[in-house]
Amino acid sequence: MLDIQPKPTGLIPPHGGRLINRVATGPEREHLLEHAQTLPALELTPRSLADLECIATGVYSPLVGFMGEADYQSVVADMRLANGLPWSIPVTLPAPESFAKTLRLDAEITLTWKDRPLAVLTVTDIYRPDKSEEARQVYRTDDPAHPGVAALFASGPVYLGGPIWLVNPIPHKNFLRYRLTPAETRAEFARRGWRTVVAFQTRNPIHRAHEYLQKVALEMVDGLFVNPLVGATKADDVPAEVRMRTYEVILSKYYPADRVLLGVFPAAMRYAGPREAILHAIARKNYGCTHFIVGRDHAGVGDYYGTYDAQKIFDAFTPEELGITPLKFEHAFYCKACGQMATTKTCPHDKEARVHLSGTKVREMLRRGEMPPPEFTRPEVAEILIRAYRDALGTSHGEA
Ligand code: ADX
Repeated sequence: MLDIQPKPTGLIPPHGGRLINRVATGPEREHLLEHAQTLPALELTPRSLADLECIATGVYSPLVGFMGEADYQSVVADMRLANGLPWSIPVTLPAPESFAKTLRLDAEITLTWKDRPLAVLTVTDIYRPDKSEEARQVYRTDDPAHPGVAALFASGPVYLGGPIWLVNPIPHKNFLRYRLTPAETRAEFARRGWRTVVAFQTRNPIHRAHEYLQKVALEMVDGLFVNPLVGATKADDVPAEVRMRTYEVILSKYYPADRVLLGVFPAAMRYAGPREAILHAIARKNYGCTHFIVGRDHAGVGDYYGTYDAQKIFDAFTPEELGITPLKFEHAFYCKACGQMATTKTCPHDKEARVHLSGTKVREMLRRGEMPPPEFTRPEVAEILIRAYRDALGTSHGEA
């Protein structure tokens, strides 16, 4: 059932009850920054950089740092932090053996990006994960061909846990006006008077099926937060730079500006399907959203997950402990007999009436400069994608 009751106390509380802010400011920051120059430095990977940003700005509330061993074990085995709060994917800081060997517990280290200090971490845990076990539990496979599993196996063999403080801003060069922190989105939702907000996660251009889910949801809530993931993705996903242009054009032409907010989600894609759907929902709750769209094969890749596994996994938690309400959608398509977007819940016609194109097929068409049918993709979006393929743009994935 769709829970669209407005929350009596205004915005939805963050996960764990308190919005985390680990961005050091003022004299505290000055002091930490100076101190950071004297500490051993660990250069971040793009994935750890994205996690650092999510921790520091409260997207991953209640985490105040990278997970220690107790939280890690508990999350891997039971999808809960050690204190019982739902959490589905470990947020860890992998390090090379040679670096970890030099550290003692309670040491402080500086996390750098391109040699510039970004954060100070107090090392409370140094531990060696069983990555095959982590893969089987979190990704439901230890197949190294799975892109999330491949990234896990390629990361450092030792995990460092502990709280962080950000001492310098994450050096972003793109999407600056769309880089909103949870504190900022919450303030904006309040300013607009939205009491119910549905979040939409995506790593793709917005096709007609995506638009349909968003608009069906928007019929029932106050606002829509379009929150595309712009961290690292796999090489054949459309680069974020190109996707952002498609979002701008489609939102400006087909969505009511006062009911939609566009902001980027800095996290990297894990392709962990069901478990990632839970993480995605928790992060959007922290942004202040009350509802979260989960469609077919959310955050999936290949055929590792069942079409609706990412919906079923929500049953592992009570609605109260998750707080954010999933809006579950069947596979959506354009039905020529109905003359509109539909799902099998609303359309009686058989498959022949549906406009169905696989992702691979669409990519082939766009590469050839062919417009996919407008029932599949708005022409304005297709034009941007065709141009991008033509310019062979955007081989950069997940750079800050
Ligand atoms: S994801 O990796 O971010 O989940 P994508 O950007 O394709 O991939 O999907 C965004 C959201 O839309 C997800 O919740 C996904 O389940 C949903 N979705 C995508 N395509 C469809 C479709 N044709 N029918 C129903 N839901 C869909």
